[in-house]
Amino acid sequence: MQGQVNVDEPAYQHVLDALNREPALAEGDPGSAFRQRLDRHFPELCGLFHGLYRTREDWLDQLTALVVQCARSWQERPAALKAVDAAREGNSSWFLSNTMLGGVCYVDRYADSLDGVRARIPYFKELGLTYLHLMPLFLAPEPHSDGGYAVSSYRQVNPKLGTMEQLRELAADLRNNGISLVVDFIFNHTSNEHEWARRAAAGDPEYSDYFWIYPDRTMPDAFERTVREIFPDDHPGSFVPLPDGRWVWATFHTYQWDLNYANPAVFRAMAGEMLFLANQGVDILRMDAVAFIWKQLGTPCENLPEAHLLLRAFNAVCRLAAPSLLFKSEAIVHPDEVALYIDPAECQLSYNPLQMALIWESLATRDVALLSQALERRHNIPAGTSWVNYVRSHDDIGWTFADEDAAELGINGFDHRRFLNAFYVNRFPGSFARGVPFQDNPRTGDCRISGTTASLCGLEDDPEHAIGRILLAHSVAFSTGGIPLLYLGDEVGQLNDYQYFLEEGHDADSRWVHRPHYPAEQYARRRNPGTPEGRIFSGLRRMTEVRASTPELAGTRLIGFHTNSPGVLGFQRPGSTVSAGARPASTVLVLANFSDGVRQLPAVTFSGFGAAAVELLTETAVRLDDGVTLAPHRYLWLRVTPS
Ligand code: GLC
Ligand code: GLC
Repeated sequence: MQGQVNVDEPAYQHVLDALNREPALAEGDPGSAFRQRLDRHFPELCGLFHGLYRTREDWLDQLTALVVQCARSWQERPAALKAVDAAREGNSSWFLSNTMLGGVCYVDRYADSLDGVRARIPYFKELGLTYLHLMPLFLAPEPHSDGGYAVSSYRQVNPKLGTMEQLRELAADLRNNGISLVVDFIFNHTSNEHEWARRAAAGDPEYSDYFWIYPDRTMPDAFERTVREIFPDDHPGSFVPLPDGRWVWATFHTYQWDLNYANPAVFRAMAGEMLFLANQGVDILRMDAVAFIWKQLGTPCENLPEAHLLLRAFNAVCRLAAPSLLFKSEAIVHPDEVALYIDPAECQLSYNPLQMALIWESLATRDVALLSQALERRHNIPAGTSWVNYVRSHDDIGWTFADEDAAELGINGFDHRRFLNAFYVNRFPGSFARGVPFQDNPRTGDCRISGTTASLCGLEDDPEHAIGRILLAHSVAFSTGGIPLLYLGDEVGQLNDYQYFLEEGHDADSRWVHRPHYPAEQYARRRNPGTPEGRIFSGLRRMTEVRASTPELAGTRLIGFHTNSPGVLGFQRPGSTVSAGARPASTVLVLANFSDGVRQLPAVTFSGFGAAAVELLTETAVRLDDGVTLAPHRYLWLRVTPS
């Protein structure tokens, strides 16, 4: 690394000396795999660690302790996982395959327990899953745990769900069935019941330094001048009082305390928790709330450059001790900032919150201008990285499009968000949606939307059109490029749970409206083509099958396509093996009609292609020189040849 030479060499020697003092670490791995990776990745890790902690006198000792910890963790890593490491080293783009399909669920709500999830593996295979994200499953406070996002121990499974051993067994079983396990790494905060938090609350200075704790309101007031409120329904500002009069930083709920990464001991401690999880058989970590992990007075404390350094440093730790582990970024922020987390050396995967929000925006407006612009300008990401494309998740829908982008199309961002919020909570004439507001903040005008896919599409009131919208929305997530991620239950049209507030601890958080229990009756109807469940399920299955047999849909590369019809989205997928600028032999042209009417695209629209095309979902031949007609909500995946 440039500029690191001075630091590097003596630092490396210091680290090697420490490793050599621990002969146990050499056993079984003499000078081999770990040392080779250390040789390769140390400069990177050292540069990052030095960048973060150089003002600390003990930075090198901290780094040395970190590397020793990595060596131990590698030594403990089970052979089966080392085999996965080796296999993926030879096939590092495995997650870019067009056969990838993700699913996400709450262990308790979907299957009662970890063993219950295991029993559903045959269903996951029926559906075609290759990636399963289990919502947070660790020990957490009761009854308030933010759906498990308040973690009391990263080494203990919530006893309601099972044990760590059952998690390992589940991971192995999934692996043997070709399904990667994804769990959350909730590293921005712990619960107030975590051991570290308890000690901090008791006044232990070492652990008080694990969090952002101040004796009075001076610093909290100073920070809050520039920091936005994330859960204003829960508490104003970012700090909450402790019983002893001190104040602790809590970005989310009062019981979720932000960790202080300015303290290298926190980095080391969390790296230890991360490697522990990796060694249980987790393939991908969903890096929770990445935007918030570094704080700096006088800034918004979101997306700071050090947040990226931290992620890179965690990533470098994986390259040493759990080389096949991947990160998925959860940054629900301005699209410019979302993009900055996506890098093979940082997060190889990222949620695509912009595409998600704009799918809903297009359904409401029947106009694809914003979505089409976003695909053209913001979809392509570096080689070796992938989007995770989704229609709904466990969280609210936030309208995270860029105001600058909208302005170019004559759209005022503030007004447009107000319209979208009104539309989705059914306070706009003609709305089909049954959403509910989340964190409505009258002071700032900010608001987000809760609701399941089916209820937001109007399945309760108008199944015919709702089914069309549900499939249309997914047809985009399944074809733009990246791993499509199903919010499990959506494939059978699960509806809002309007009784959510009756469950203990859920009443103040409307996101529970879209976190229903396993809809057993709806699943039972999935093979009946005469039911909405059957139609949605078979439509999604068809997309999965066709996607898996269409190499052009691998990877993420996308080329824009103008349909010249405001309600009809178009884009091209040339496949990942075609280098940028080169002319592919064939490409998949996707068309999707978001308008309520039949749309006719004249032959001239397709003048760049040969006249003969095949619609892949229906396996029918299409003559582009006749033009193309799309019924409302119709989507076509056309294999075309550039002429
Ligand atoms: C993430 C989760 C969200 C949670 C928050 C705090 O954004 O997706 O559900 O409330 O982090 O952990
Ligand atoms: C905010 C945060 C995001 C979190 C969400 C939960 O949008 O930016 O990280 O998931 O709140 O509602």
